[in-house]
Amino acid sequence: MIRTILTYPDPELKKKSAPVVVINDSIREVARDMAETMYDAPGVGLAAPQIGVHQRIIVIDVSGKDEAPDLIVAINPVIVHSEGEAYEEEGCLSVPGYAANVRRHARVVVKALDLEGNEQTWRADELLAIAFQHEIDHLDGILFVDHLSPLKRDLFKRRARRLAESSGDKP
Ligand code: NI
Repeated sequence: MIRTILTYPDPELKKKSAPVVVINDSIREVARDMAETMYDAPGVGLAAPQIGVHQRIIVIDVSGKDEAPDLIVAINPVIVHSEGEAYEEEGCLSVPGYAANVRRHARVVVKALDLEGNEQTWRADELLAIAFQHEIDHLDGILFVDHLSPLKRDLFKRRARRLAESSGDKP
C-alpha cells in the first residue's frame, strides 16, 4: 500500500525512531509499503519516520533507470565505519522542490538486519553511501537541510515559510 509521505516541517520528522525488536508481519508490511511508496514517488530511499512509523527501517534502491531494481531493506542500520569526503546535491521526498549540496562521508560500511533477521554488511560508495547516511539520519530526526550552513538553512526556512503562506488560508 502506498503511504502518505510526511513533509517538512511536520514535527513527526524530528522524532527519533526506536530499534525494531521483533521482525514480525507488521514490520514486513511496513517495509513492503515503504518500498512501494518509494518506487511510486519515485525516490532512491525512504525511512520509516517519513511515513509516520518511528521504527528503525530504511529502504534504498540506487539502481539506474535502465537497470534491474536492487532493493535494500535495512533494519536497525548502523554505520560501523566511514571515510573520505563527499559534497553532492541531495533532495528528499519530505522536502519536495528543494535540493542542496551536503557534506557527507564518501564511503561507509553499514551493518543491519534484513527481513529474515540475518545480519548484512554493505560496503558503500558514491550514491549508495550518501543514501545510507541520508536515510539513517532520518531515523534520528535529522533532515538533509539540518546539515546546511546557518546562512543556507536560514534561506531555506524563509523560503519554506513563504511557500506555506502562499499555499495556505486561501479560498
Ligand atoms: Ni530524505
